[in-house]
Amino acid sequence: MVQTHSNRKVLVLPGDGIGPEIMREVTRVMEFFDKRRIASFDVSEGLVGGSAYDADGVPLTDATLARAQAADAVLFGSVGGPKWEKLPFELQPERGLLKLRKEMDLFANLRPAQVFEALADASSLKRELVAGLDLLIVRELTGGIYFGDPRGIETLPDGTRRGINTEVYTEAEIERVCRAAFELARKRQKRLCEVDKANVMESGLLWREVANRIKPDYPDVELSFMYADNCAMQLVRAPKQFDVIVTSNLFGDLLSDCAAMLTGSLGMLPSASLGAADASGRRKALYEPVHGSAPDIAGQGVANPLASILSFAMMLRYSFDLGDEADLVEASVRNALGSGVRTGDIARTGETRVSTRSMGDAVLHELDKAV
Ligand code: IPM
Ligand code: MG
Repeated sequence: MVQTHSNRKVLVLPGDGIGPEIMREVTRVMEFFDKRRIASFDVSEGLVGGSAYDADGVPLTDATLARAQAADAVLFGSVGGPKWEKLPFELQPERGLLKLRKEMDLFANLRPAQVFEALADASSLKRELVAGLDLLIVRELTGGIYFGDPRGIETLPDGTRRGINTEVYTEAEIERVCRAAFELARKRQKRLCEVDKANVMESGLLWREVANRIKPDYPDVELSFMYADNCAMQLVRAPKQFDVIVTSNLFGDLLSDCAAMLTGSLGMLPSASLGAADASGRRKALYEPVHGSAPDIAGQGVANPLASILSFAMMLRYSFDLGDEADLVEASVRNALGSGVRTGDIARTGETRVSTRSMGDAVLHELDKAV
């Protein structure tokens, strides 16, 4: 662990399954930055998910939440696994993650899907459809059907039961995430597509209305609209038509898995979850790979650490304004892939599969060459 007196306070929450093994490689990258005096971090570790439940009886303690609130950035691994599937809903590992997102008010979830040239053939789509792909999904993360009331399972007078969840969005919730997406589009190809089911859901109508209302503040950005089912289809038909997509919590969950696979593997995709900036410009933030805890391969040392390493790059960029250093990490990942190393998830038949550690080594080797 990096133990320095830096003002960059980072809380690492490795979680369950492959979380600890991939996070170990990120820690090595942080140590590299520290040793080379490029940037130092004040790192501490905590428990979340099933491992927190095993230790403390809850998937996220108040103490860990308080540490997350006080940190400049949280680096999160993954949570969940068969061991905890039978627990009551409120104690399941995922509740720990959802509580972090909600309590820290991390409403804007950035999920970029970029195809690295070396992996264009690892995609399930034809190379020409995905080569050069670079899209960004901005998923609303603290509202919608994930958190809406009423919710639950209730028993009707006749003894039958019904399950209830509610899609609910206030104008303010829609506006802040749409503004974040407009701002991000500005720094890219300046095209924003708002995705909803306004043909079926009133909440979707409100999303469209709000996006249109604030559009004049971003005259340089082109705004379009698409229904979510069509968007799912377009993502696998012609994904390069998109620049930035902004959408609700649930649609963003589904569409980001779909977009992730275009890049060749879920094991490649990083994400950033950001809150609002305070008066000093500081925002709460949590960085996590889009993939889950992969219990089927946990503990074997074969998981792909690149999504986590790329999440660390997003942390450098968005929490610490270290854009050049973020570029450096991303270039090292690109070069490591270019040198031919592949973990199992991105290897094609016949290609040698390396371990999590060796993939970490390859990135460190490229970093070493570059600085
Ligand atoms: C994600 C995951 C989570 C979600 C789960 C683990 C609760 O699928 O981050 O996309 O549904 O948001
Ligand atoms: Mg998901």
